[in-house]
Amino acid sequence: MSQSFVPPLDLQSLLSPHREAIAEAVSEVIASCGYILGPKVEAFEQAFAAYCEAPHCIGVNSGTSALHLATRLLDIGPGDEVITTPYTFASSAWCVSYQGATPVFADIDPATFCLDPAAVEAAITPRTKAIVAVHLYGHPCEMDALKAICDKHGLALIEDAAQAHGARYKGKRVGSLGNMTCFSFYPTKNLPCAGEGGALVTDSDELDSHGRALRNHGSIERYFHHEVGYNYRMEALQGAVLGVLLPHLEGWTQARQRIAHRYHELLDGLPLELPREAEGCESVYHLYTVRAPERDKLIANLKEQGVGTSNHYPRAMHLQPCYEGLGYKEGSMPVAEKAAQQAVNLPMFPTMTDEQQDRVCAALRAYFR
Ligand SMILES: Cc1ncc(COP(=O)(O)O)c(C=O)c1O
Repeated sequence: MSQSFVPPLDLQSLLSPHREAIAEAVSEVIASCGYILGPKVEAFEQAFAAYCEAPHCIGVNSGTSALHLATRLLDIGPGDEVITTPYTFASSAWCVSYQGATPVFADIDPATFCLDPAAVEAAITPRTKAIVAVHLYGHPCEMDALKAICDKHGLALIEDAAQAHGARYKGKRVGSLGNMTCFSFYPTKNLPCAGEGGALVTDSDELDSHGRALRNHGSIERYFHHEVGYNYRMEALQGAVLGVLLPHLEGWTQARQRIAHRYHELLDGLPLELPREAEGCESVYHLYTVRAPERDKLIANLKEQGVGTSNHYPRAMHLQPCYEGLGYKEGSMPVAEKAAQQAVNLPMFPTMTDEQQDRVCAALRAYFR
């Protein structure tokens, strides 16, 4: 990597100021010899529930596990359908398939990359049981419209907030909007841990106590299993790291938002479609994703100029080989398919300097000249 390379994400600069505090918390866990769940996980669960303005948080071992717990808790099963977006990370659909149910894809809103409520409504059948709403790139879905659909048809609403810790919809935090909200703490996420981690947040006492049992082999009393459960427990080391980093999340979010607003200003007028926040939505800019008609050419050129980018997601879920059997074809979800061809993520991380950002913008201007 040349010295002037601007990476899409720089975890080193983000985490190095916290290395000592992390090491101290981790060494406490090592000294305690209590490696699974325990006081560090419990303390983090309480702090993260409060952060989400919700009563309960269950710490688990990944965002994927949190999503699976959610569909299992709703008793989703064979013959059931769950509607989600095709333009997301695979786990938003896996959680449906893991339960033997059928994911049904509904197209996205071109402005926000999130589920289009009208497409959701059109995808409902008598078998529909729930919606998995993915707050993609840190931008909340249109929750009022999705909730109204759920109320009208008696559906559950699962939020996939793996990319949206702290995002707000009409003033309320994601995590306090649907029946259950799933978070990931994968190291590239807005709140990272030092490995795999996730959480399920809910306002339901019942879902909370049932979810705690299911993540722990379906047992409340050790070696007594009332139902088949999972090993989805959060490790104490991850609870310790998350406990150290959570207090910094708000500052990191503000930095992301400042960088995003600066991009809006600096890139205005270029032939790129910039992300915009829908009315009432406060994005936490997990990514700053623009659309460019000749995306791959742009990515290659930026790389030559020392600017790293990333691209989530180059193929929408309804066209993935694993879901061939569902019968979708190219053209089934035109908005998602176009996004998969055009979207590119510019460098975005809380410690990005103005100088780095200026270089990204200069490279873009040079490309379009
Ligand atoms: C939208 C979305 N959902 C779910 C997940 C799964 O989270 P994890 O990697 O922690 O299992 C991710 C992670 O990439 C994600 O981006």
